[in-house]
Amino acid sequence: MAPVVVLGAGGRTGAECVAALEAAQKEVRAVVRDPAKYADTLGSRKGVELVAGDVADKQSLRSAVAGASGVIFAASGSGYWSAKAVDYEGVVNVAEAVKEAGGQQRVVLVSSCLVSPHNRWNPIRIMLNNFRWSLMDYKYKGEEALRRSGVPYTVVRPAGLTGEPAGQATLQVKQGDRSSGRVSRADVAAVCVAALTAPAARNVTLELMSKPAEGQAAPLAQQLRGLFGGLKPDA
Ligand SMILES: NC(=O)c1ccc[n+]([C@@H]2O[C@H](COP(=O)([O-])OP(=O)(O)OC[C@H]3O[C@@H](n4cnc5c(N)ncnc54)[C@H](OP(=O)(O)O)[C@@H]3O)[C@@H](O)[C@H]2O)c1
Repeated sequence: MAPVVVLGAGGRTGAECVAALEAAQKEVRAVVRDPAKYADTLGSRKGVELVAGDVADKQSLRSAVAGASGVIFAASGSGYWSAKAVDYEGVVNVAEAVKEAGGQQRVVLVSSCLVSPHNRWNPIRIMLNNFRWSLMDYKYKGEEALRRSGVPYTVVRPAGLTGEPAGQATLQVKQGDRSSGRVSRADVAAVCVAALTAPAARNVTLELMSKPAEGQAAPLAQQLRGLFGGLKPDA
């Protein structure tokens, strides 16, 4: 079985993506900058191939995507000046690597609610842009580069991330980047995995959040089956 590549697999959402892929019985290629750091966690798992890779290093990406069935981009810069190289140019590099590999692998990009320029005066967006230099501006540029790249993709823009387990909440998807809220990383991961293959998620940009509690949520697998229906592909 061709593996799914998870870029930033050691991060909090990346690790949830690995777990969601394992739960779906998919082979995983977990890409991290320093495999030694994750030898005890990701390195010991059956069905998980732990490899070194950096989204700023094109050669490492060529190896990372070779023979893969799809790619989840869950990396994000960690230093104050890192957003340009990771959240923007890293996405450009991944799209190029996928194109060189034949251009068939769908890239699911974990982005963020509020990245769109029309939200430029939103105080949360301003705060995030200051927390890491121009983070939201560069994340949007990364999205735009992926949308224009010609490779199949889904852009998942989560609301504020939490550590709740998957399947506790009723999920909702929106388009237009006019809302936010909260959503768990584990639910984001489940949606990313579903987006890799769902026909209705191809070339779609969506916002993802949980609905305010209204009793018991429907089982996650059931929610995922209907989640992408009715979404518009990007123009
Ligand atoms: N926090 C929120 O509420 C929120 C809301 C909406 C969207 N988001 C977005 O959701 C995504 C995931 O967030 P998170 O908090 O789960 O992430 P995270 O825990 O900060 O993990 C990010 C990962 O990216 C990796 N990374 C950094 N630079 C890299 C590079 N050059 N190449 C490859 N990997 C690299 C880091 O790897 P190392 O292990 O090597 O350091 C780290 O494991 C981010 O894009 C974030 O902006 C966050």
